[in-house]
Amino acid sequence: MSCSETDEGGRRRAPFLTFEGGEGVGKSTQLRLLARRLRSLGIDPLETREPGGSPAAEAVRRLLLAGAPDHWLPLSELYLVLAARADHVARVVAPARAAGRWVLCDRYVDSTRVYQGLAGGLGLDLVERLQRPAVAGEWPDLTILLDLPVEEGLARRSRAGPGSRFEDKDPDFHAQVRQGFLHLAALEPQRFAVIPASEPPETVAERIWHAVRDRFARELAP
Ligand code: TMP
Repeated sequence: MSCSETDEGGRRRAPFLTFEGGEGVGKSTQLRLLARRLRSLGIDPLETREPGGSPAAEAVRRLLLAGAPDHWLPLSELYLVLAARADHVARVVAPARAAGRWVLCDRYVDSTRVYQGLAGGLGLDLVERLQRPAVAGEWPDLTILLDLPVEEGLARRSRAGPGSRFEDKDPDFHAQVRQGFLHLAALEPQRFAVIPASEPPETVAERIWHAVRDRFARELAP
């Protein structure tokens, strides 16, 4: 997958990091902790999420997450996720990066590959073909994959309150999600940092920080 450090004019684009993983792995918490750390260094990143991240995309998110687990067909989910992504990328992600702002996104292209392509059964080829126009060249530079046994993630999630449509899917689906992410990470080891998420949040945050520091040593140099 292409890495988008420069635009067509050869100008450097601001770093784009994504957080991925199954349900309850702690992506949102870790994204916040990384944003806080970057701010302490004088970098003010944009914190965003998918599906969502712009008013229109947040409206699609509400449609996607409500209802019974089989409310939408995987193909319908794919079109909805990509409708949201097209808006979010064009109106939020691309302008931020073009203005030199780091972007931290909670879920992105790999969630679509895994939830709709692998666990959802549509296959990676179809997902890739349909998502390319929505992504518009904004591929992540670094993807933090938080990995956790499925039962642990779902237990964490159920303690946090009522689940979304995806959380209520059967255990087999969630096992495929975990395996799917690990499969993608093995295909692109240079883009992914796979971080075990069972440890306390501060330990996980430290591991993430090492991966970020290694990948963006130049951008973080004083
Ligand atoms: P979140 O609650 O972790 O933000 O994720 C919302 C749900 O949306 C999550 O269960 C995974 C699902 N999802 C997809 O199925 N496809 C996608 O492309 C994205 C971004 C999320």
